[in-house]
Amino acid sequence: MPTEINRRHFLTMLSSLSAGTAVAGSTLWSPILKGEKLKIALVGTGIRGITFWGRRLVEKYSDILEFVGLCDINPGRLEFALKEMQVSCPTYANFEKMVQERKPDLVIVTTKDSNHHEFIIKGLDMGCDVLTEKPMTTDEFKCQEIIDAERRSNKNLIVGFNYRWSPYMTKIKELLMEEKIGKVTSVDFNWYLNTYHGASYFRRWHGLRQAGGTLWVHKATHHFDLLNWWLDSDPEEVFAYGDLEHYGSNGPFRGNNCRDCEHTDKCAFHWDITKNEFLTNLYTKNEHHDGYIRDNCLFREEINIYDKMSAQIKYANNVFVNYSLTTYSPFEGWRIAFNGTDGRLEAWQDIPYVEEQDVSQAELHAQEMNQKAGDIYYKPLITHNLWSDYERIMVGNERGGHGGGDKRLHDKIFVHPEKEDPYERAAGVRDGAMSVLIGVAARNSIESGRPVRIAELTDLQPRAKRI
Ligand SMILES: NC(=O)c1ccc[n+]([C@@H]2O[C@H](COP(=O)([O-])OP(=O)(O)OC[C@H]3O[C@@H](n4cnc5c(N)ncnc54)[C@H](O)[C@@H]3O)[C@@H](O)[C@H]2O)c1
Repeated sequence: MPTEINRRHFLTMLSSLSAGTAVAGSTLWSPILKGEKLKIALVGTGIRGITFWGRRLVEKYSDILEFVGLCDINPGRLEFALKEMQVSCPTYANFEKMVQERKPDLVIVTTKDSNHHEFIIKGLDMGCDVLTEKPMTTDEFKCQEIIDAERRSNKNLIVGFNYRWSPYMTKIKELLMEEKIGKVTSVDFNWYLNTYHGASYFRRWHGLRQAGGTLWVHKATHHFDLLNWWLDSDPEEVFAYGDLEHYGSNGPFRGNNCRDCEHTDKCAFHWDITKNEFLTNLYTKNEHHDGYIRDNCLFREEINIYDKMSAQIKYANNVFVNYSLTTYSPFEGWRIAFNGTDGRLEAWQDIPYVEEQDVSQAELHAQEMNQKAGDIYYKPLITHNLWSDYERIMVGNERGGHGGGDKRLHDKIFVHPEKEDPYERAAGVRDGAMSVLIGVAARNSIESGRPVRIAELTDLQPRAKRI
């Protein structure tokens, strides 16, 4: 959206905000109400930080916001971030120093998952609104600390759940809200990561439980948040299985970096990071600062997360969910079926045999990672009511930026914060917690061999209807 339109839009928005419209995170807008730019500091200048929360905000919303500081433990990535984002603000290795000196209104947290809590809590305690990438955190103890920090603060935490904002996901929400299939009673939800995207998690810090909380948390937080939001209820109990059978020490050989491994010619997963200029400049050229290797061997012994996962989730409104996550599928896609008292709703994305399409899996992954890809294509949803024929509903969708969710999330936060959203897509601390806690409960269930109640994990009590 051109910046002049943004400014005009904000002028209209200001009057509704000052008239007292209730908006989650509305303290964020007080600088704009005073005619000043929103001051943003970002911690974690990796790919997500500098592209989606960095360059895109600068490109689209520079007339209403400015970056006043960037923080990372890697000085090379900080240097690269300044160029890539085209900003000239001060850079820091120390987060507290940055907040003290630069006094941001909003802190954006895009570090690795296991230390999100550190910056969320410090940011709130130091008087800033905070926006964190998913997952909010990686275990129940840090989750409680974040809940406590927000309670004692007069600021807000926003969790960047982008998938809720994709038109396809929103259409599912709309149909469920309209009770198109009556009251939902059970759900089958299966997510398939292919051998490009799925494998990528095992190359990086995501392969270590202590860094990403396992894919039950790092990846499935997206899926659990969608379930919580679609079903409009809190999870109550989880029983799960998980194992590591494909990657990690299961591999037939292992090397150091993928780029120059001696097993290159016989490894189907071989990936040469140096062929990608952006990733080379951001990561490979800065390895000497902190030893962060982006193209580790996915068969290394230290990998301690699951690569196949299956759970049953019982919701407080008595909906039962069967969920599974696969990390070495030949294709990348997902399918869901909601069973209701009056029928069934089925939805899916990117299942080649269903769509009868030839899709390059490598190309699919590249498009999904690309914020700029925006071509619209139509995808069906099926509703099938009892004693009736099924109905096919075509939904306009986008390939890039998480199905078009990324840019809509930005617009909600930075362009339309005042606008009532009938689908309630804005997510806060309780949403962040409830999605993480399903993953934590799944992990605990695998270890203990018993079902785990969500109420055991923090002081949040599940409710039949979400608040
Ligand atoms: N919503 C989505 O769809 C989506 C997509 C991609 C990534 N993400 C999330 O974004 C976050 C970042 O992902 P990424 O792929 O850019 O990771 P990354 O590892 O490439 O970048 C993380 C950055 O944080 C820095 N960092 C780590 N610890 C730090 C510390 N203590 N202090 C300061 N800096 C520190 C690292 O040096 C690195 O530059 C993750 O939490 C990830 O889950 C979300």
